[in-house]
Amino acid sequence: MGTEEQTETGGVATASETLTITDNRTGKTYEVPLEDGTIRATALRDIKVKESDFGVMSYDPAFMNTASCRSAVTYLDGEAGVLEYRGYPIEQLAEHSTYLEVAYLLVHGELPNAKQLEEWTNKITTHTFVHENVKSFIQGFRYDAHPMGMLLASVGALSTFYPDANQIKDPEIRYLQIIRLIAKMPTLAAFAYRHNMGQPYVYPDNELDYPGNFLSMLFKMSELKYEPDPRLSRALDILFILHADHEQNCSTSAVRAVGSSQVDPYSAVAAGVAALYGPLHGGANEQVLRMLRRIERKENIPDFIAGVKEGKERLMGFGHRVYKNHDPRATIIKKACDDVFEVTGVNPLLEIAIELEKIALEDEYFVKRKLYPNVDFYSGLIYEALHMPVGMFTVLFAIPRTSGWISQWLEMIDDKEQKIARPRQIYTGERNRDYIPVSQR
Ligand code: CMC
Repeated sequence: MGTEEQTETGGVATASETLTITDNRTGKTYEVPLEDGTIRATALRDIKVKESDFGVMSYDPAFMNTASCRSAVTYLDGEAGVLEYRGYPIEQLAEHSTYLEVAYLLVHGELPNAKQLEEWTNKITTHTFVHENVKSFIQGFRYDAHPMGMLLASVGALSTFYPDANQIKDPEIRYLQIIRLIAKMPTLAAFAYRHNMGQPYVYPDNELDYPGNFLSMLFKMSELKYEPDPRLSRALDILFILHADHEQNCSTSAVRAVGSSQVDPYSAVAAGVAALYGPLHGGANEQVLRMLRRIERKENIPDFIAGVKEGKERLMGFGHRVYKNHDPRATIIKKACDDVFEVTGVNPLLEIAIELEKIALEDEYFVKRKLYPNVDFYSGLIYEALHMPVGMFTVLFAIPRTSGWISQWLEMIDDKEQKIARPRQIYTGERNRDYIPVSQR
């Protein structure tokens, strides 16, 4: 063991925990501290040919190997297929917890005791209503507007209803926005759905639990009281738990990057919704269902797979940047499928999905590239069984991910090392050109 030294970040590095870099341009050698198996990219700035140089930078498009923060929210081991929220395995949370309890855990770092859980649930439940003008706002969309577009706009619009939300350094004001965001996302989502359906918007029913109230806002018609099937409510709650956080994914990074400008949390979360919308991220669940419908019959699978291998399209719901063995959420969802189908009857697309998975898992193309079903492969089948139109699938992802986004945002606000996110670039364009008047071009 080498001698111990205090690092700039307050961590302790032994002398052997360093990286020696030789700059072959100058022959100079640099010793860079290694902390948690990581070097600070800014340490490379010392490596220069002459004093006026900017120094060496690291180039990492798509952040393939760059840690952008320290985080104690979610642990993910992609090789081993492990996912933990605040240290609790996702399997245990999915089995024993509720989404609201998990949201508390993510935000506060600890599971609540009975009193804390009651208070938290009460707070969320009493903030589910939105300002009446939000209704008019959503009514302004075309009848066939995509619900993710409506959610994105309406969550951003909430910042105009709560202008004090920009006081992000005030813990009390901040906490109130966290409650509002978690409470109001299902209401905004349900209003978007009802708008598409041309049905009157349903106000929250605060006697129902979180998933039950959401189902009520979606599906209540003329009955005095909507009574959700507890098995479907529970299945939805499990899906919410599984989607609550996933460390530094595209949308969370978007929330952190936008939030780093110190904008209010509604605007930062709107950025997260926008990132999630894309087909390579949360939008994949919608694409999976469209893909399964297009394949239509088991006999068409080989042709489809051949097309994927030729690079014509992707097998949606397969592959992950981090999981290279299995996605633990996919395993839990597959099981939840059985519970839902017991109530709703089997979705005929399930047969195609199972066959597709079987073929893909044996095919060298997918095996070699470590492509396994991810969370989105089966979730769409459940959503469809719950009578959700495909456009709502990604919205159903955004509702629970809000607690993850906001926990990560909160962590960032309190992190002394964080500053406004501002990557560098390698400029590849022209330089020093003289302007030519249009008549001479
Ligand atoms: N179907 C076919 N080939 C694939 C797929 C797929 N779904 N995913 C990756 N590949 C191939 C890719 O073509 C590449 O092959 P090659 O080395 O020959 O060029 C190799 O596998 C590596 O792929 P990559 O695009 O470099 O991997 P990535 O880490 O950048 O992308 C991903 C990860 C999730 C975007 C990608 O796997 C994908 O597009 N999957 C389908 C969309 C999807 O299901 N997304 C949901 C992700 S999980 C939930 C979420 O984040 O919201």
